[in-house]
Amino acid sequence: MDILYIGHSAFLLQGKKNILIDPFISQNPLAKLAIDELPAIDYILITHDHEDHLGDAVQIAKMYKSRVIAIHEIIKTYFENLKTNGIGMNIGGLFKNDDLDVFMTPALHSCYNGSPTGFVIKFMNKIIYHMGDTALFSDLKLISDKYSIDLLLIPIGGHYTMHIEDAVEAVKILKPKFVIPMHYNTWPIIKADPYYFKEAVNNAIVNILNPNETFLF
Ligand code: NI
Ligand code: MN
Repeated sequence: MDILYIGHSAFLLQGKKNILIDPFISQNPLAKLAIDELPAIDYILITHDHEDHLGDAVQIAKMYKSRVIAIHEIIKTYFENLKTNGIGMNIGGLFKNDDLDVFMTPALHSCYNGSPTGFVIKFMNKIIYHMGDTALFSDLKLISDKYSIDLLLIPIGGHYTMHIEDAVEAVKILKPKFVIPMHYNTWPIIKADPYYFKEAVNNAIVNILNPNETFLF
């Protein structure tokens, strides 16, 4: 599969299906892509409803009749008129179908509706954990015990989420094979050096992607 880093926390997983996560695109200072350049999106996953994560989800879901996976209150608040496409779940829940499994994790953060979340995604025999916006928290150990993570998408920008030192600690706990840092350098307040993070991580391979770069996985 191809992992396209759109910028900030927005990723497109392209394989048997097109899966878009936290589609903050049109207002994203890092994004080099317009929403009408996206392929047809099968699933949109939203970790929480802060503007920089909900982003263009409503418009994209309408364009492609995408199925939207998010916590119940997000579906209720923003996708009620797209009822048939919304999959409102909750933390600890598992969405399962032929192509895709999505386990909803907690995230230590805030939001407007529901609770902030992350996703452990099983897709094309790989396990990908998108942490959403979160601080370091000890229940990561439970997630680490349960899943052998191939790819971790982790915030490093600090201020609103983990800063680099805590992100390094999270990688130690989660033991992924590969890591892609996210949620940094979008604005000056979350300025961080991904190369410093890469140097500090010694139990996984860190791939630093520029916006619009793809990781072949
Ligand atoms: Ni947030
Ligand atoms: Mn955020």
